[in-house]
Parts: sequence; C-alpha cells; structure tokens
Amino acid sequence: MKNQLSKINNSPIGIFDSGLGGLTVLHELKKILPNEEYIYFGDTAHLPYGSKSNQNIIEYSKKIVQFLLSKNVKAIIIACNSASSVAIDVIRSMTNLPIFEVVTPAILNAIKKTQTNHIGIIGTHTTINSQIYKNKIENINAEITTMQTASPLLVPIIEEGLENTTIAHAVVKLYLNPMLQSNIDTIILGCTHYPIISNMIKTVISDKMKLISSGQPLAKTLATYLEKNECLNKNSNPSTCFYVSDSPEKFKKLGSKFLNDEILNIQVCEL
Ligand code: DGL
Repeated sequence: MKNQLSKINNSPIGIFDSGLGGLTVLHELKKILPNEEYIYFGDTAHLPYGSKSNQNIIEYSKKIVQFLLSKNVKAIIIACNSASSVAIDVIRSMTNLPIFEVVTPAILNAIKKTQTNHIGIIGTHTTINSQIYKNKIENINAEITTMQTASPLLVPIIEEGLENTTIAHAVVKLYLNPMLQSNIDTIILGCTHYPIISNMIKTVISDKMKLISSGQPLAKTLATYLEKNECLNKNSNPSTCFYVSDSPEKFKKLGSKFLNDEILNIQVCEL
C-alpha cells in the first residue's frame, strides 16, 4: 500500500491548454507546488479554442486527456477557460482521476472579494457564450449580478507582443467601458492569456476594482487536495515536460514570457 501510494505521489500532474495561456497557470502551480512533476500539453495545432465550436473543443480535449492518461498522471488540470467551460463534463466522465478546471477557483475568489455584489467577466467567445461564469455565480449567490464581455482581440494582441501599446490600451478600454460605467468592483480574467496584461488593465480600471485570475486560487485548491489525500510529491529535483501539437519553436519563444521561465524539453505530439 505504501509503495502504491508513493508511486502515485511521484506521478506527474497533467495540464493542458489550447496553447500558451495555460503556462500562466503552470507558473502559479510551480510557485505553490514546486516539488511536483508536470506534463504540459499545448494544442497549438488547433488554437484558438476561443472561436471553435464546442463540439470541436470537446473532441480535442478528449484526445489530450487520453494522451495525459497514457502518461500516468495523478491529476489533470484544464488550464484553458474555453475547454473548462464546454468540455469539463465529458472529461470527468472519462476518468476517476481528479480533474481541476480554471472557472470555479476564480469564481469563488471573486465572490469572496466583491463588495458591491456586481462582478464582470471577460473571456473568449466560447467562454462567454457558454454562460458558465454567469450561471455558476448566480447559482452560488443569487444576489450577485454579472456583466460579461467577449474580448477576442486580446489573445492575438498578447501573442503578437503588443500588450504595452496604445492599441492594446484602446482595445481594453473598449471592452471594459460598460463595466467601468457600472458598479462592478471585481473583474474576472476569464482567459488564461489575460494575466499577462493584468498590469496594463489596472491602468484602465479604477484603483478600487479588483482583478481575479484563476492560476493562484487553482494552485491553492490543488495543493489542498494533494495534501489532504497524502499524495504530494517530495521530489527536490522534479522535471516538467512540454508537448505541443504544432510549432514547437514558436511555443518555446513566446512561452517563456507566459511561464516566466525558460521552456526546455519540448516534444511535438500530433493527436
Ligand atoms: N486558452 C484560451 C482560454 O483560456 C485562450 C486562447 C484560445 O482561444 O485558444 O480560453
């Protein structure tokens, strides 16, 4: 039993995204759980998920989860809001392993922080159209109202390295303007690319508004789970392996900004 348990403890954590955004989540995971091994899959052949049909996102996610299961992971993190929004139920039906998504931790954090009971959400078309944030927040607390805006231009702006330009500033202003006119005091960054521009967003919103990203609350939730289930890894020299379905050079180059660290060990895996 002890051997079996230590085998699970030493198993990697699987994490996936449509491409780069999930690296902002991995960054937070590594801060809070530095002794874990990670296997990251970026589905660069199929990004962006934010403008794909739900059916396609579900099919891509299923294949990635099968791949991660073949690597004997001990838990799976869906580090993409779009996939978390539309594929979570299908993924949970595929395995008994713990599955963590990025929507719930951000919601719980936002509900804790809001004082006006008015929360804003920005994300991709897929995430906003799914209504997952609105429905979950209103289910938890019917007194809270939400305002959502799809912000599709932000992902390409960030990927093109234009995040500190007047274009980026104008686009953020355009998307957030209705929220700035309301009594929203908490905005959820419902896309794993957006933490890259959180400092720039802070220059557009008022000092009193709080920005909520999912990476840190998710990492805390996972840490609590692993601790409670006695399956923390104690490895002092753990590895992280990266797999992408296309363009490893681009992933390596752009990815280091998202991870805030060098990306080593990339392999291409077409699913
Ligand atoms: N990672 C996606 C998300 O969080 C954004 C990029 C994409 O559209 O693929 O929704």
